[in-house]
Amino acid sequence: MTAVLDRAACPASIRPLAPVVGADTTVPTIAGDPVVYANFDYAASAPALASVAGRLSEALAEYASVHRGAGHLSQVTTARYEQARETVRRFVGGRSDDTVVFTRNTTDSINLAAHITPGDVVVLDIEHHANLLPWTRTGRARVVPSAVTVDETVERIEAELASAPAALLAITGASNVTGEVLPIGRLAAAAHRHGARILVDAAQLVPHRAVSIASWGIDYLAFSGHKLYAPFGAGVLIGRSDWLDAAEPYLAGGGATADVDLDGVVAWHSGPARHEAGSPNTLGVVALAAAARELQEIGFEEIGYHEHRLQRRLDDGLARLPGVHTLRIFDDATDRVGIAAFAVENHTARSVAEYLSVTHGVGVRDGKFCAHPLLRKLGYPDGAVRVSFGLGTSSDDVDRLLSALSDLVQR
Ligand SMILES: Cc1ncc(COP(=O)(O)O)c(C=O)c1O
Repeated sequence: MTAVLDRAACPASIRPLAPVVGADTTVPTIAGDPVVYANFDYAASAPALASVAGRLSEALAEYASVHRGAGHLSQVTTARYEQARETVRRFVGGRSDDTVVFTRNTTDSINLAAHITPGDVVVLDIEHHANLLPWTRTGRARVVPSAVTVDETVERIEAELASAPAALLAITGASNVTGEVLPIGRLAAAAHRHGARILVDAAQLVPHRAVSIASWGIDYLAFSGHKLYAPFGAGVLIGRSDWLDAAEPYLAGGGATADVDLDGVVAWHSGPARHEAGSPNTLGVVALAAAARELQEIGFEEIGYHEHRLQRRLDDGLARLPGVHTLRIFDDATDRVGIAAFAVENHTARSVAEYLSVTHGVGVRDGKFCAHPLLRKLGYPDGAVRVSFGLGTSSDDVDRLLSALSDLVQR
């Protein structure tokens, strides 16, 4: 293990920054004794923060219908649901007149965005399918190939925006494969220079970095509660109200309508209700708002510092392992969230992930991470291994992962 972990370079032990539910859960291994699970799959779904679980059980005790119930608990539940919009707006630095629509998840939010967008959309080829397929299937997507540097990639995007009018630039805030962060303020300025708006797929950004819609100039932002330490699946699309109010409701049904008659005359609501027909995922939204508040209380400076130290330990360790190749999109990315993807020579990604799980109780993800074009472009068409972490991760977890990988490559 000493060959993998240079203790002089990262001497201090790093404790979890906040308690998460299930941190002590043990899992079976082939060696026999169960071990405490080391969860390195936060980027897929993060464990619930213990404080979020607490808020959820309070809300559950008073849980009732939302919006049209006159009873006291309906009023309490409705207030919780509606207050969550303000919590979310503050969490991502939204403008006072931005609309906050609750959705099922980021995928749903971006499909809603595609439904309201009145024109061409410029996208990069590094995107998660959730920020690619809703656009390409409209036939109005213009896909820009990323370059090896962030700078040149921004230039390519700007050239595409200048070449013909586009309604929107839809771009990820942080890659779900490599964790590399894109310069959203610069991209927003570039989009606006050419008369386009910008949508940021912030699924991998908001759990890790403070986001400011207003000061970065973001027009629409999409993210998911389940990656934000809030279980039960609720998502958000927040942004400018004009396109949202001008579009046909995303779903037709109760809650989206002010008046209906059988002659087919329907008066649709404006505002968030227009696109939230049907009973909402109240507890998912309560969890999401509780997580947003908790992350703000912990503070993104602390969160960034915690992840940066873990990232360095992980990167240093991976770099020492023979035959382990780390994936990167850009040569000049200055920031990465808590994600690293790699491949191990002579091993399939699946066999590495299985080995880590059954032999060491370490949970990672393998495959193409719903970013097939990117994996192909980076030269890993059959997939890679992805490690992702966050508030509940300690240096012991990282050391266990590195030690397990060291065992694998030395076999
Ligand atoms: C960057 C990015 N965008 C979108 C999504 C889709 O999120 P969801 O499954 O919550 O819709 C993911 C999920 O992994 C993601 O990483």
